[in-house]
Amino acid sequence: MGSTDLRSAPPTAPALRAPLTVPALRARKVIGGAEPLVMVTAYDAPGARIADEAGVDLILVGDSVAMVVLGYDDTLSVTVDDIAHHVAAVARPKPRPLIVGDMPWMSYHVSVEDTVRNAARLVRAGAEAVKLEGGRKRLPMVEALIDAEIPVMGHLGLTPQSVHAMGGFRVQGRTTEAARSLVQDAKALAHAGCFSIVLEGVPAEVAAIVTDSIDVPTIGIGAGPGCDGQVLVFHDLLGIEDRVAPKFVRRYASLKEDAVAAVSAFAGDVRARRFPGETESYHLSGEVAETLGLYGSGGARG
Ligand code: KIV
Repeated sequence: MGSTDLRSAPPTAPALRAPLTVPALRARKVIGGAEPLVMVTAYDAPGARIADEAGVDLILVGDSVAMVVLGYDDTLSVTVDDIAHHVAAVARPKPRPLIVGDMPWMSYHVSVEDTVRNAARLVRAGAEAVKLEGGRKRLPMVEALIDAEIPVMGHLGLTPQSVHAMGGFRVQGRTTEAARSLVQDAKALAHAGCFSIVLEGVPAEVAAIVTDSIDVPTIGIGAGPGCDGQVLVFHDLLGIEDRVAPKFVRRYASLKEDAVAAVSAFAGDVRARRFPGETESYHLSGEVAETLGLYGSGGARG
């Protein structure tokens, strides 16, 4: 007699929506009449399923995993192995949104060859595109990736991997010169073939100028409403991360608070012997219980 699989996964629902592709996303400019793009980060299979069922367009397996999941103070400690591990977890449920793997610090800084090899690891883990930080000085790497048929998303403005060079997580592009430089960087990345560009931590006016200057979508985070899309970190938007609340984050749930309340209720039930109850327990058949001599001792029921 076969035993029951207590944790078997429910059958996956048939894919009703077509997967999102890089060429389709590349064309999504708000000025051309498109709806703004929606991107969220995710780092594991449940996160990917949530993002998919919520109908987002892109999932970024961000190096923010370092801070919101792995407990580091910045993003510099994560490696290609770490990101590949999380990309694979996100890709396993085959979500419809396009999966973008974040290139961690030092995975695209040493050489073009190194960059392509590291990006290929993320693609083999399940990423359909990669993201890297920086503008004109990253062009050789961006061009080599595109040459290797790996779609690239740029990332300009507050680039967290430059935390030490920037002197902290600071809004960028506030001066005329810095704003102009940002526009030049964005144009260079778009010209090189990036299919979209994240703009992080820049004044809304500058993000709007950049967005108007290029023909691929910009995706903002702390960059105002004038971008072609918006991205938030999963743990920020769901209130799982509740220690810091940057100005640009809007919390749509308080899952950390709900989780603490739920785990406390569980602990209370266990300590008061209210858990497990009858409906949460398995029982022997009457026949086996009888053979074991359990009737009469009060130890089993039919
Ligand atoms: O790693 C990340 O989550 C990011 C987003 C903030 C864009 O790069």
